[in-house]
Amino acid sequence: MKESGKIWMNGDLVPFADAKVHVLTHALHYSTSVFEGIRCYDTPEGPAIFRLDDHVDRLFRSAKMYSMKMRYTKSQIAGAIVETVRACGFKECYIRPLAYYGYGEMGLTPTKNRVDVSISCWPWRMGESKAGKFSGAKCMVSSWTRIDPRAQPVQAKAAANYSNAALARVEALENGYDEAIMLNGDGRVAEGSAENIFICTDGRILTPPLSTGCLSGITRDSVIKIAAADGIDISEYDLYRADLYAADEIFMTGTAAEVKSVTQVDRTRIGSGRMGRVTKALQKSFVSAAMGKDKRFRQWLTFI
Ligand SMILES: Cc1ncc(COP(=O)(O)O)c(C=O)c1O
Repeated sequence: MKESGKIWMNGDLVPFADAKVHVLTHALHYSTSVFEGIRCYDTPEGPAIFRLDDHVDRLFRSAKMYSMKMRYTKSQIAGAIVETVRACGFKECYIRPLAYYGYGEMGLTPTKNRVDVSISCWPWRMGESKAGKFSGAKCMVSSWTRIDPRAQPVQAKAAANYSNAALARVEALENGYDEAIMLNGDGRVAEGSAENIFICTDGRILTPPLSTGCLSGITRDSVIKIAAADGIDISEYDLYRADLYAADEIFMTGTAAEVKSVTQVDRTRIGSGRMGRVTKALQKSFVSAAMGKDKRFRQWLTFI
């Protein structure tokens, strides 16, 4: 991590090295925090944050699912995100707003403590994601089951969900793969450790419905909307493990991953073993929308 820029903490912009919390911060002990991952892209017309309001909406929905009382309005947080990116002077970056139960009372009940908010960002260029964006990711179907929506709110982007995701990611890496694919308790395909998943089969593009427990990804939604605008139908469909092996193409979507190709699942090669035609086309359309080149999706950009 390159320590540069400023971090917004409860209304103040503080130097990166000074953005500290007490060791008895509630969230550190009980995972009582919710967060977002947002990107700012260096478009030809200047730096622009992708789908800022949608990310802020999801942050507040996540907080609500955990009864967290936010001390700021959505527009204050959106404004603070823009202010932080400006203060850092980054043209392209990843932005991490975090709302967490802070220092105060110790014990399981979080609601006596204040909900603190921080906004951090760090440089991250378009396409600068982990393995697989261009070469194709090798994925492992995880032996860990995706969290059941009856156990905790899977639609909240909550830290509490990420121990499950991290177990799957580490298992995949330790077995020589780039990424994990998680099945839910019914054996249906849910998502990657931090990405949504799509398959192309028999000329159709299919993605698991939210009822599988996958996160309602903003990149997932963007790709579905871009495809629809281009006359390409993407349907929600229950998928099982063997559907992955039989697919002609597989790709994943996420703020960090953008649109990345999957060319192997377990020991099975997908399609030709290289990024497929549909994935390549959607990757291109997504980049075009995020860079402000596709006028139909200009409203997704907040110029800073
Ligand atoms: C579990 C999970 N699924 C899917 C996604 C993709 O969501 P988005 O496109 O909003 O980044 C993420 C990333 O935030 C995630 O953590």
